Amino acid sequence: MTPQTTGLQAPPHALARSRELTEPALRAAIGRLHPLPRRMAAFSLGWCEADGTPSTSPGGKGVRQALAVLAAEAVGAPGATAVPAAVAVELLHTFSLVHDDIMDGDERRRHRDSVWKAFGTGPAVLTGDALFALAVQVLAGSGSEHTGAAVRKLAGTLGDLVHGQADDLLFETRPWTGPDAVTLGEYEAMAARKTGALLGAATALGPVLAGAPPRLVDALSEAGLHLGLAFQAVDDLLGIWGDPLTTGKPVHSDLRRRKKTLPVLAAMVLDPAAARRLELLLGSDAPPGAAEAGRAAAVVEDAGGRTFTLEEARRHATAARAALSGVPLAEPAAAELVALSEYLLDRQV
Ligand code: IPE
Ligand code: IPE
Ligand code: MG
Ligand code: MG
Repeated sequence: MTPQTTGLQAPPHALARSRELTEPALRAAIGRLHPLPRRMAAFSLGWCEADGTPSTSPGGKGVRQALAVLAAEAVGAPGATAVPAAVAVELLHTFSLVHDDIMDGDERRRHRDSVWKAFGTGPAVLTGDALFALAVQVLAGSGSEHTGAAVRKLAGTLGDLVHGQADDLLFETRPWTGPDAVTLGEYEAMAARKTGALLGAATALGPVLAGAPPRLVDALSEAGLHLGLAFQAVDDLLGIWGDPLTTGKPVHSDLRRRKKTLPVLAAMVLDPAAARRLELLLGSDAPPGAAEAGRAAAVVEDAGGRTFTLEEARRHATAARAALSGVPLAEPAAAELVALSEYLLDRQV
């Protein structure tokens, strides 16, 4: 067993169950878009090829929609109550990925060309905008008497996401070592915003729409935030040691773009000699090539950056479970949330 994963866990049934519950509303929402962004949005969701012909692509994992459905069930509401929230968070997530791939210069996503690579940057910006607008429309039209509170929560999440992505971009230009180097605390604040906020919204919005008491909403939101931090730590690991055939995303592109990901930052803190080697490999004026990125990955692993990051992911998953166990939640949804958190740590995709 590698320190990264046992790797054999099947996806929890809650993912498929939530997809089944949510997909008709997601398809209906996408169907309302202008035909141009509709085609590109359907492509980004894995529903069609770039030319519009049907596709059997797996699309995304649907983690956020599952969190929305399970969180609603955990406060005693039917999962169907959460469908507008589930659709909204999945749309916002896809919007963020379409724009993120432009920002990060990544050419592959969900086992296919990223939207900007397939259709061009301008159309990809529009696709993201369309998904964003649709997310707000779907939530605002939920019909729940608690829609106002849900839309306010979503607006805060969007602000966090932009703030986190801005820090992520700025960190690319910060040095690896010295007084201006990005600290582990700054990394965590960035990841909490770029990823934690949306997972926290996913676990909060279903309960908000269902009119759950604030104590339950806060506990579920807190659990989602920690799951997001765990999720991003694992995403950083997969970006270095994942198999692109499995993840459907490029490997080493974070290293080549000098992204301040957790494994590299941790290696720098843990081992000063490794920090000097990494500075040489990643810190020169020219972007590192494939060979330098490969060597940097080995240095990060030897310095303990990989193990540290997995431990951080575990720590946040434990904090998520602690937030859930501090309030009375309905079964089996609460147990399914815990199973989902375990899957998120072990995932290879
Ligand atoms: C990728 O999220 C982006 C991050 C927040 C790390 P996912 O890994 O959930 O993406 P899909 O939806 O399954 O493609
Ligand atoms: C994740 O960004 C968060 C958002 C997309 C907002 P990353 O850049 O870390 O995620 P991947 O690895 O490209 O999916
Ligand atoms: Mg990215
Ligand atoms: Mg990014």
